[in-house]
Amino acid sequence: MDLGITGIHHVTSGASGAQEDVDFFTGAVGLRMIKQTVLFDGNKPIYHLYYGNKKAEIGSVMTTFPFRQAGFTGRKGSGQVKTTGLTVPKDAAAFWAERFKRLGFATGVVTERFGQKAAVFHHPAGLGFEVIEDASDPREGWTTADISTDVAVRGFHSVAMSVQDTEEMARFLTEGLGFVRVATDGAHTRYGIAGGGPGKTVELVAEPERKQGTWQFAQGLVHHMALAVPTETEQTAVKAHLEGLGYTDVSEIKDRNYFHSIYCRSPGGVLVEIATSDIGFAIDETKEHLGEKLLLPPWFEPRRAEIVAPLEPIVVPSYATRH
Ligand SMILES: [Fe+2]
Repeated sequence: MDLGITGIHHVTSGASGAQEDVDFFTGAVGLRMIKQTVLFDGNKPIYHLYYGNKKAEIGSVMTTFPFRQAGFTGRKGSGQVKTTGLTVPKDAAAFWAERFKRLGFATGVVTERFGQKAAVFHHPAGLGFEVIEDASDPREGWTTADISTDVAVRGFHSVAMSVQDTEEMARFLTEGLGFVRVATDGAHTRYGIAGGGPGKTVELVAEPERKQGTWQFAQGLVHHMALAVPTETEQTAVKAHLEGLGYTDVSEIKDRNYFHSIYCRSPGGVLVEIATSDIGFAIDETKEHLGEKLLLPPWFEPRRAEIVAPLEPIVVPSYATRH
């Protein structure tokens, strides 16, 4: 069954402080800053910060809401994305393990899963990440003075979700979205879409004893993972397909300015978004100058002063926006 889903689109998580988040993703992880905007839902002005690889490709886009100023907190648990995986080239895990240990974000240990080396690290807000070695990823990483192309992050590799019971989540992934089971390694089972591999893989982590985590916006929690479809045509088909299986809580299409989105709460608890790939980040600034300044969608522009005033001032390092 092919519904037109091409892989991961983005992952959206709750950070804590805004400058802390910018420093972590652009400085420590070496991602490109690709957009500074604000959260479109709710009434509290909150940044929405986007980071990605060299070409700001769909499938590399890590987005965050720095919730410290809103005071949103929650509990980690099952029904959430547990670890966000980023691809790095073969033999790069040791570089990252050493780097994250030196910077205080990890223990510096290289692990292995599904025959691939990985280094686990944590965002200052507590979000779990890992860099996973996969030589089959052709995407180009953003580079900085101390992160060269032979170690740079290519984009998302996979997203690991903690679920109490994998059976209904597996059914949702396969029958609902078109994923195919790939392999199991301990508590982790991989599912691939559009051929699988880097950026086209999710993992279910069976944790039957783990208490349900918070679903609300919170610092240190992944809010949702988004899968990509080319256009609203495929998106509408996915919505109709899910509704036809009885997953009737698929949202209406929401305008996220850089893509259009629908959302569905999955049986495992994770909020899954289906986002279009045909608009992109160059609609309100040029491709060469992505992420340099705060941009608001047209419908918020008349309220700019009121929205911007409470936001923590941030400085984005020039190496994160230009080479
Ligand atoms: Fe999203």
